[in-house]
Amino acid sequence: MKKNKIFVACDSTNISKIQKIIKETSNTELEIGYKFGLEFLNSKNGRNFISKLKKKIIFADLKIHDIPNTCVSTIKAIKDLKVNYLTMHISSGLNALKAVKKVSGKIKLVGVTILTSLDNKILKEIGFNKDVKKIVYNQAKLAAKAKLDAIVCSAQEVNIVKKVFKKEIITPGIRFDSKTNDQKRTLTPKQAYKNGSDWLVIGRPIIKGNINANIRKLIDHLSQ
Ligand code: C5P
Repeated sequence: MKKNKIFVACDSTNISKIQKIIKETSNTELEIGYKFGLEFLNSKNGRNFISKLKKKIIFADLKIHDIPNTCVSTIKAIKDLKVNYLTMHISSGLNALKAVKKVSGKIKLVGVTILTSLDNKILKEIGFNKDVKKIVYNQAKLAAKAKLDAIVCSAQEVNIVKKVFKKEIITPGIRFDSKTNDQKRTLTPKQAYKNGSDWLVIGRPIIKGNINANIRKLIDHLSQ
């Protein structure tokens, strides 16, 4: 049977903690990949640690958001890490997406839509007056146009994204209960897969507290 796929968000700068996360999340029932974000990638030993990780699915959540030239140089600068997935904000614009896709080679280029920590009220504050779903739909069209390999969106928008984007869909903002922390557009793991997510990104609900118990809870939740 096909295994459910989870990217564990390794959100810490502490190498022993990261080692513990990797050890305690490996199991035979789920396919696990490891996501390293801005916190770890900018930490003193983070990059070096990732360069030595073997036989793991690695997701560099760099969230590049810049002009095309800088985006391209950034990809070139990180290529030695041989990560499997790498993110950039779709709001960098179509030119930047296309330019990066040209140089990303074997790395799967993942377009990030509106962050799951934002809702319509916060978007309005920034000056975006369209409904979040409309913006995400538009962004998914751009991702398809630029031939990106995957997209990050809220699990609440998977059905909208799927209309125009036919490749992998990765969804953060996953919660088992009402403890949403800073996330606004959340769903449970089961709902997210039901909507058609290929990969879930889960951080705090797995890495905070007892990691083994959290993984068990996740497996039980998925089998119910
Ligand atoms: O702890 P939590 O499960 O909220 O972690 C979610 C992870 O996914 C974090 O590492 C965060 O940076 C990342 N992420 C996100 N929303 C996006 C893109 C990435 O929460 N739209």
